[in-house]
Amino acid sequence: MPLSKRPTLTQYLIEQRRRFPQASGELNALLLDVSIACKAIARAVAFGELGQHGVPAAKTGGAVNVQGEVQKALDVVSNHMFVATAEWSGNLAGMASEEMDDPYQIPRDYPRGKYLLVFDPLDGSSNIDVNVSVGSIFSILRAPADVIESGRDVVEADFLQPGATQVAAGYALYGPVTMFVLSVGNGVAGFTLDPNLGEFKLTHPSIQVPADTSEFAINTSNSRFWEPPVKRYVDECLAGRTGPRGKDFNMRWIASMVAEAHRILMRGGVFMYPRDTKDPSKPGRLRLLYEANPIGYIIEQAGGRASTGRQPMLGVKPSSLHQRIGLVFGSRNEVERIERYHHEPATREAPAPLFAERSLFRD
Ligand code: AHG
Ligand code: MN
Ligand code: MN
Repeated sequence: MPLSKRPTLTQYLIEQRRRFPQASGELNALLLDVSIACKAIARAVAFGELGQHGVPAAKTGGAVNVQGEVQKALDVVSNHMFVATAEWSGNLAGMASEEMDDPYQIPRDYPRGKYLLVFDPLDGSSNIDVNVSVGSIFSILRAPADVIESGRDVVEADFLQPGATQVAAGYALYGPVTMFVLSVGNGVAGFTLDPNLGEFKLTHPSIQVPADTSEFAINTSNSRFWEPPVKRYVDECLAGRTGPRGKDFNMRWIASMVAEAHRILMRGGVFMYPRDTKDPSKPGRLRLLYEANPIGYIIEQAGGRASTGRQPMLGVKPSSLHQRIGLVFGSRNEVERIERYHHEPATREAPAPLFAERSLFRD
């Protein structure tokens, strides 16, 4: 396809909207605002240590966010870019972000709209210092009816909707090229930023995650904290051709979940940041509302599967804005296998009979 024939993100969104003649265009306007925030973040990231906005990329902002993590200056700048780009347009009832403890209220100077925007402004920010890909992740929800009708301030409970209710979700990836990957509930489309035009152009019209894979991603330094089904799955992958799986597996760990998701969308694979026993106050590392749900939505829209390991991710009813959760996603057959292992009675790890429930050693 000649370059000039590739639709821009705007053209793609107009075409998608034609499926819903009654649609007002607000969702499209919101998505374009998000894409502009992502372009601005891409530029800020690209300046690296040279800094833009007066801040070198790797410098810490000094502050600690609600997750207890030290914010990088770029975390804060990226958060600001999302807020400043999306707040004025009249499409939003409120926002929530990894970098903001509480829901963000649309200032009274601006009209309020019907959507909620939830985002991780910079995912993988520990990779900024080492010039490895980072990205932004976003989820769009409909605000509850009474919020839309009354225009009242949003509260945490308004955001606690299962991932299946997302209206759209996507991410931008700031790698060797900047990409914008999006689903409005009709498959997944990938756009590449044309640096000459400053426009996202459709380069990956219908992304599909292959159902099978022999590539997995997990932080193995946590293996002593894994639950038995995860240990079993990884052991079987590592056993390779002569093990129960009968084939060799390859492993990757980028430590930018958004980049792992992109690799899996491009060529399949399975990603796990499962629930573990490392810190009982944290049931998993990644956050449900602005990491697991939007990535889960994209992966499922591309024919893959996203799960807590025990149940479909998109069915989980959130309990708090910054809730953490175990996350497994990627090629459908592998994710289903991992879920099966979680549901099977633990045979391999079963306690030795003497120490079992009715053993001699229990009173
Ligand atoms: P964030 O930078 O938004 O806090 O997210 C980082 C996440 C995720 O992107 C990545 O997969 C994971 O943290 C890396 O975890 P490890 O440090 O355990 O490798
Ligand atoms: Mn993140
Ligand atoms: Mn982040």
